[in-house]
Amino acid sequence: MNQEIDPILRLLRPESVAVIGASRHPEKIGYQVVKNLLESGFPRNKIYPINPRAKEILGLKVYPSILDVPEPVDLAVIVVPAQIVPRVLEEAGRKGVKAAAIITSGFKEIGNIEGERKLVEIAKKYGMRILGPNIVGICDTVKGVNASFCQALPNPGEIAFITQSGALGIALVGWTKIKGIGLSDLVSIGNKADINEVDLIEFFGRDPHTKVITAYLEGIEDGPRFLQVARSVSRKKPIIILKAGKAKRTLGAIKSHTGTLAGSDAAYDAAFKQTGVVRAPSFIALFDWATAFAKASLPRGEKVVILTNGGGAGIMATDAAEEWGVNLIDIPADLAKKLRRHMPPFGSVFNPVDLTGMADDDSYYGAMKDLLLDKNVDAIIVLYCHTAITDPVQIADAVLRAIQETGASKTVVASFIGGEEVLSACARLTENGVPCYESPEKAVAALGMLYSYVRMREKLDKRTMISVERDVEAAKRLLAQVMAEGRNVLTPSEAAELASYYGIPVLKRVLTHSPEEAVEAARRLGYPVVLEVESPDILHKSDVGGILIDIKSDEEVRDAYQRILDSVKARAPNARIKGIVVRRMAEKSREVIIGAHRDPIFGPLIMFGSGGILVELIRDVSFRVAPLSLEDAYDMVEETKAYKVLKGYRGEPPGDIESVIYTLLRVSQLMLDLEEVEDVDINPFFVYDKGKGGLAVDVKIVLRKPEEKSRQ
Ligand code: COA
Repeated sequence: MNQEIDPILRLLRPESVAVIGASRHPEKIGYQVVKNLLESGFPRNKIYPINPRAKEILGLKVYPSILDVPEPVDLAVIVVPAQIVPRVLEEAGRKGVKAAAIITSGFKEIGNIEGERKLVEIAKKYGMRILGPNIVGICDTVKGVNASFCQALPNPGEIAFITQSGALGIALVGWTKIKGIGLSDLVSIGNKADINEVDLIEFFGRDPHTKVITAYLEGIEDGPRFLQVARSVSRKKPIIILKAGKAKRTLGAIKSHTGTLAGSDAAYDAAFKQTGVVRAPSFIALFDWATAFAKASLPRGEKVVILTNGGGAGIMATDAAEEWGVNLIDIPADLAKKLRRHMPPFGSVFNPVDLTGMADDDSYYGAMKDLLLDKNVDAIIVLYCHTAITDPVQIADAVLRAIQETGASKTVVASFIGGEEVLSACARLTENGVPCYESPEKAVAALGMLYSYVRMREKLDKRTMISVERDVEAAKRLLAQVMAEGRNVLTPSEAAELASYYGIPVLKRVLTHSPEEAVEAARRLGYPVVLEVESPDILHKSDVGGILIDIKSDEEVRDAYQRILDSVKARAPNARIKGIVVRRMAEKSREVIIGAHRDPIFGPLIMFGSGGILVELIRDVSFRVAPLSLEDAYDMVEETKAYKVLKGYRGEPPGDIESVIYTLLRVSQLMLDLEEVEDVDINPFFVYDKGKGGLAVDVKIVLRKPEEKSRQ
């Protein structure tokens, strides 16, 4: 046996399999796994049932231990109760087995963390990789391996499906069969003690039998590795993920806007966008889209035409096109003239092209040929509503004949609407490279996903990294000082100072200790000014009368200085007062929010959105994982409604978008350099007119609590 073989290849496509815990009793999983292996056509002489109490199972010779098997074993499937698993895994290791699939439950999922840790330790000792525990097993249609307790193998195909839920995996075997969807592999990953989704994405990325990688996931184990692997794999083939579990994480006592808005899902969304992963909202959408990727060719251009025999279906598709980013063209005059030949006078050559309910297979054939041969058309959505005067199979054949005869490699998707009569026509189309759906919206959505993938993939190649000038040493010294005082929230002055070390434009702040010092500072900064208390114990200054704005003269400064001190002493008698800060009144402008939050899986998550006090209510925000490329920063700004305002809304002059972009890049760098920083909120960030820059008016920085840091 070749020792160099990829252990995941041995796991999914083994030459020989031992079933440890093979049972004599048909109702037990250990019996079903052997039966499934036999029924999937796995060579009988390469299946080794292991059971110390049995001699023969399903006509196969049984061995008391894997160590008694005279031949080498590629894969050990383990189906003995949890307490016996370490022993038999150890034996498999001694036998030289390099891949084990542990079906057994009763580990981490019920709190048996130590038991699971022990399995990993044993596997490591022998250089073995393990899948599970707590899985349904492996279903591979490439080699024909059903080492699971799924009822049967799925239909063969080019879609790999990785599932964190075993039960969903089993159920989907039956569902994909009735939908005519074929899979290369169905792999349940269970507790992911060792092999996880990233290992499998990497494997399927280089697997010639898999065209599309799909997954149902509740979480991702290793965020940074996922980013790296997914980004490289999705350049070659699409990855579609259904990520469940969007509920908000419980938040600590100090809530930044960014942390609250991020919840636990924003990081996944951002990571998927940055790696070209398509996110599916349901398993139905996941397989609809996977079918499109597996069967259709990727569109080469954005010019799309809808061809229909029903006005209503055409309108539905037109609405959906807008929603899914599918670009419908105006039909050029010369093409319109050609299309006219295939429809009655009351047909329409606008887009949708409506052949009318009179359309027969000749009409579809002729129109399809014209569309396929026209250089102004890149993709076609074929719609058909079943009528008594047409045969859907003949229509499907006409569409396929046109494609075949023209030899055009354009993207074609279809929707055949009707009863049982359309099913075989639809299946024939899908089988022959025209993914066909039951509704126009589904067909358009599938095409929209092909476009979305193409656009995302183009972006993956364009990552301009900008280096940010900064003073890391000064920033670290400042943080060390704050932490030495046992604090995890920076005062506004400290936060502004830290931001300034990263080149983020902040207002100059002068800390004063007497009314006369304050007057002198105000004169230097220029009136009008703001006076505010500087205290490590006061987060919300206005609540204690700690801030006065629009102060216009020396006299008003002296008065404000005293009033702030009196008010704070009365309303927060225990607060330590470090002095009174004087700063210039910022000239008001467009308000945005720029923030960062450290996500436990993916690391620093950067946010941009509409700013002000209503940010959480308005929720006009976008996220990306650091490090941000220049393109990431532009994408996140362009995704929001705030972008419309920045571009110049209703005759207003455009804002200085560059100041926002560069502040996002600087915040990204700050989060990467200073891992003590948990949250940053810059709200508001004023965006002045184009060319005039921006200003971080209020900066809030929260550090990781010491115990949180030590847990990492
Ligand atoms: N080596 C090999 N076989 C052994 C063994 C050993 N050291 N010790 C016992 N066995 C045999 C048993 O004798 C039995 O065979 P038999 O029925 O012919 O006597 C077989 O292994 C199974 O053992 P048993 O004790 O009967 O266990 P079980 O079949 O009731 O349960 C599991 C075993 C793994 C199925 C069960 O513990 C489990 O985890 N079930 C949940 C699986 C699951 O849901 N996975 C997740 C899906 S999402």
